[in-house]
Amino acid sequence: MTREEKIKWVNAGPGWMYEFDLGEGVKTPLLTEELRSVHETRKHMIMPAIDRHFPGGLSGKYCLDVACNEGYFSHLLCGRGARVRGIDIRQLNIQRARTIQAILGYAPASLAFDVADFFDNRDEPDTYDLTLFLGLLYHIENPMGAIRLLHRITKTLCIIETQLTRQAAPIKSGWGQTGVTLELPGSMALYQEPDMDENNLAAYHSLSFIPNVAAVRQLLLSAGFTHITQVSPTPAANPQYLCGDRGIFVAVKSEKPT
Ligand SMILES: C[S@@+](CC[C@H](N)C(=O)[O-])C[C@H]1O[C@@H](n2cnc3c(N)ncnc32)[C@H](O)[C@@H]1O
Repeated sequence: MTREEKIKWVNAGPGWMYEFDLGEGVKTPLLTEELRSVHETRKHMIMPAIDRHFPGGLSGKYCLDVACNEGYFSHLLCGRGARVRGIDIRQLNIQRARTIQAILGYAPASLAFDVADFFDNRDEPDTYDLTLFLGLLYHIENPMGAIRLLHRITKTLCIIETQLTRQAAPIKSGWGQTGVTLELPGSMALYQEPDMDENNLAAYHSLSFIPNVAAVRQLLLSAGFTHITQVSPTPAANPQYLCGDRGIFVAVKSEKPT
């Protein structure tokens, strides 16, 4: 691609989720300026957690980036030596991811992008050493099904990033008999996203369920992950992470005893 072709392509719209530097002074224009600090924060919270889990590095590791959008985190993992598959339900996102890959020069043997609905995943158990599940949990109407699927195909580590509700107090509920009540710490809020047709970051024609922190832990433990840690944001993090509106969780799948 010539410089002029790059400029035309990146500005064809819609706005981009990530800023990619395509060389020759051309960068992809961000949808909103805040995304810059969101991605910086996520990178600084996620990559050290991965490094701690894989002290020998990612060379020889196979990773799945679920709902990869334009492939930013797939490219990051690939740059660290992993073999990566990125999937997203939207054609435009994957077309962009593939074109960026070609410009940045990542070989198809190390990085592959596919248009796919994660719920159609039929990979064998333990296929991926590492799975990324960033920014999708709160855009789907079957969060538990998605987490079960993630647990099945993950060999050791899964990173989950999600929007969180501010519901800290347990929800009270009756339970089968007059006077019997439950206090339930984990809860989800329902959201019908209004912009699914035009927003490439949105849910794909489904109702969305936004969890609170307790619900994320409960979903992961119920699916079989054995150790769940919420990553603490640094003081310089984006305010959404500092105030707890978004969170990042590291879920470990212990090997079954032989
Ligand atoms: C908020 S963006 C998150 C992108 C990226 N993972 C990140 O966190 O930077 C949500 C993405 O999920 C994709 N998506 C929505 N439903 C999906 C599904 N069922 N399977 C795969 N991708 C999906 C959307 O197309 C969109 O790219």
